[in-house]
Amino acid sequence: MAYTGNIGELVKKVEESRTSRVGVHYPRMTQEERRDVLEKFHPDYNTDGFRNLKVGVNKGARLPVEMADVFETWSRLRDRKPDLQADPVYDVDVLIIGGGGAGAAAALEAKAAGASVLIATKLRFGDANTMMAQGGIQAADKENDTPAIHYLDVVGGGRFENIPELARALVMDAPLVIKWLEDMGTMFDKKEDGTMITIHGGGTSRKRMHAARDYTGAEIMRTLRDEVLNKGITVVEFCAAVDLILDQNGRAAGAVLFNLETEQYLSARAKTVIMATGGSGRLHYRGFPTSNHYGATADGLVIGYRAGAKIIYADSIQYHPTGGAYPPQLLGLLVTEKTRGLGATPLNIKGEQFVYHLETRDVASSAILKECHERKLGVPLPTGISSVWLDSPIIELTHGEGTIERQLPAMMRQFQRFGVDIRTEPMLIYPTLHYQNGGLLIDENGLSTVENLYVAGEAAGGIHGTNRLMGNSLLDIIVFGRRAGRHAAFVSKEMSVPAGLNLDHLDAFHRELEATGAADGRVGPMLLPHYTHR
Ligand code: FUM
Repeated sequence: MAYTGNIGELVKKVEESRTSRVGVHYPRMTQEERRDVLEKFHPDYNTDGFRNLKVGVNKGARLPVEMADVFETWSRLRDRKPDLQADPVYDVDVLIIGGGGAGAAAALEAKAAGASVLIATKLRFGDANTMMAQGGIQAADKENDTPAIHYLDVVGGGRFENIPELARALVMDAPLVIKWLEDMGTMFDKKEDGTMITIHGGGTSRKRMHAARDYTGAEIMRTLRDEVLNKGITVVEFCAAVDLILDQNGRAAGAVLFNLETEQYLSARAKTVIMATGGSGRLHYRGFPTSNHYGATADGLVIGYRAGAKIIYADSIQYHPTGGAYPPQLLGLLVTEKTRGLGATPLNIKGEQFVYHLETRDVASSAILKECHERKLGVPLPTGISSVWLDSPIIELTHGEGTIERQLPAMMRQFQRFGVDIRTEPMLIYPTLHYQNGGLLIDENGLSTVENLYVAGEAAGGIHGTNRLMGNSLLDIIVFGRRAGRHAAFVSKEMSVPAGLNLDHLDAFHRELEATGAADGRVGPMLLPHYTHR
């Protein structure tokens, strides 16, 4: 029992109200109520914490300060340009930067289309946010559902700001993606008759969340990684891309890699490049804790932007409503939305529910921030922060004993390590920085605004509008990874070896930095979080 003292007393209020809450649905917000809570409490609507970008193709765009700071950085190659005309260390059709789910999916399709492929990854292959994804992957493959209904949920959740063609591609490919993964060996949860078990996520109008318990991302990444290795695709680990190489026509034609072990710079020439570097949670916008992987430092955004790729909705950040708040070792770690999907309810210090348990993430997080900071009805923690309860034991009352152990084994273990048994004790939660809704602008093939530069996964923007729904990220990494891989392979086969390789765009970018005085001595991309400076 981790809840002692004041918290031990407060938990009694949750226990007292539990049975009266079983089967009772708290009312959903109206559109006006949703807008109101977002405008007042969602960090994206706050004018503090943002500034306008001073350089580059989206000069003037509003960005979180921490992101603007990493965009306005000097290249590591400023005084150390490698000789690109000498033989490159790697020479392939398709260079994939990033070894998470999007990169692996892209590699498999590019290879299947006959291209020579290299995956260069900053850490180990598979060390990425994909591996940490828990709750599930959406696909409309049940009788009461269609891609059109999935589409309506995606754009409703995305505040109607999604690029329609991208949202359409996402939902149309989804059922095929589930089949593709299953055929490769991903073990989704099934009923005894062999049909898929699917549940709700926040903002879904049908039960279409497919899961492998609560380690869905790990199971998908296991399958993809095995398949990439089985196909003999070359993977170089601990090699981070620090800048893109362009050809004489301004097309992407490779990247300069930095070997983190030997500290050598290597050049990789390619006919096409796929950026699959993930997100930026480790920038800790506004000081929020994060659920993100250690490598999520916006590298792909930084080097893509420097090469002239446009960004979209980069000021839209997702705060997952249920980050761990206590015990302190769990601060910021993801408490999967599957917990809410199974019926766990957010409660305040009085043991009262204050928001419908399956509101979309932006709305649910804002409601929690309101409860803690305006209504002052959060649960005060010895660590000095406020939090709310997420009543997990109600899942056992609703669905039967053993449900948590069966459906949320990772969650159960995560809390058990610190003395909390979530089958009998509620969790303490607070929003955590989870996802970057925007990114580099792409089309349906994953092509960015720079010729021959593709983007897939969290580094891409436009698919989810300004708020992604649960389970559409594991989906988008596969949908757009595969699309980018196929298209890049096709384009590569049609073209000759790129000529006139250069890094001239860096000089142009540096001149802009100099003219505006923006960079302030900072070098980017960051590659690893700067915790020692915090
Ligand atoms: O809550 C979760 O399991 C996270 C899923 C997602 O971001 O899609």
